[in-house]
Amino acid sequence: MTAATTEGATRWWVPPGPTATARSPWPGDLFAPALYEDVRRPIGLASNLPNWCYTSPAFFERELERIFMKVWNFVGRVERVANEGDYFAVDVARVPVLVARARDGEVRAFSNTCRHRGCLVARGEGNARGFVCPYHAWTYALSGDLVSAPTEMDASAGFDTKDYGLHRIRLESWGGFMFVCFDPDAAPLADHLGNLPEILARYACDDLVLARRIEYDVPCNWKFYVENLKDAQHVATVHRSSISQYASPRKYWRAVQETTGNVVSTFMSYPGSAALLKGDTGFPMMRSLDEATAGTTAPLVLPGTYISCTTDCAWYVHVDPVAVDRIRLEQGALFPRETMARPDFAAMAAPYFRRFDLTQAEDNEVCALQHRGLSSPYASPGRYAVKEELVHRIQNWILDRVLDQPRG
Ligand code: FES
Ligand SMILES: [Fe+2]
Repeated sequence: MTAATTEGATRWWVPPGPTATARSPWPGDLFAPALYEDVRRPIGLASNLPNWCYTSPAFFERELERIFMKVWNFVGRVERVANEGDYFAVDVARVPVLVARARDGEVRAFSNTCRHRGCLVARGEGNARGFVCPYHAWTYALSGDLVSAPTEMDASAGFDTKDYGLHRIRLESWGGFMFVCFDPDAAPLADHLGNLPEILARYACDDLVLARRIEYDVPCNWKFYVENLKDAQHVATVHRSSISQYASPRKYWRAVQETTGNVVSTFMSYPGSAALLKGDTGFPMMRSLDEATAGTTAPLVLPGTYISCTTDCAWYVHVDPVAVDRIRLEQGALFPRETMARPDFAAMAAPYFRRFDLTQAEDNEVCALQHRGLSSPYASPGRYAVKEELVHRIQNWILDRVLDQPRG
């Protein structure tokens, strides 16, 4: 999965289109630390990642191998598999994954690849007694065990169904957020999350319920979207007619929080709900909060899971890499259990969904525009504003993992 280039050679990237005249050189070895010295400097002296980090298929393959195959990746809220037999299939960093709750009550994750000849076993989501591969009907239990192989296996020497269950994938949860990890040697999820449970303790994430989930197909590199999620300054421009109306960075301070593990986080002092547009009314404050501590805490679990906990609800935005220039974006709206139980919930929740839809569309558009702009042969790394501290940290977190040698 690494770049197959000759050291010292230069590959010339020629943009599509008959009018293109400029050419942008990519270095032969994209992973030499010396290429990134400008990103490594203190933020006041630093520049952003070079454009090939967002457009090179080889760089993307390295990210899959060194980041997404190694860390804990968000896979879904636990409410999606609330009952025995509930399941969903999802690609996580291009790996087909199946999550199911079996009769013993345990939620397991599997490779969603048939052990016969590799077909996807399950698609979509639902409730099932087991899974039948659509190709030749090998049949798996909710526990992943192969229960029948109706392909006349009698003459296949030594074949035993018990050896051909779906491959298990590690799955752990915190606060109703389920994560999977493809690396059998990785440390537990708790190590990855660091002090996230303390930062979000007062929002009682275990008591939040998934009210709505939406997926988007966005034509941009995954890093553009992740950086955007922790870029505070675009609120005043991209969201000038939506959330900037009440949560302008000029009016309310945002503090970068102390974090451990693979998390960056901010706290915004606006005391109302950050999940509504100006003038909308909503649900009361969460019981676990009080006026003195009200505000919005918004951590990003690297590499791509943003969780925003505000005064009356929470929402998450998860960035899943599909290709170097494409992401699957998942947005979920979470409300306290007692809020969901209100008879007026559907009517009261409508303005929240309208706000989520509006701001997501604004972010989707600007990230796609950024990808188009940065794909130009004229693109070169710009300087950071010092308020882009978390963008700088995110870019360096990525370099820490993908470059050939660790930082000296
Ligand atoms: S590939 Fe699944 S039964 Fe043949
Ligand atoms: Fe935004």
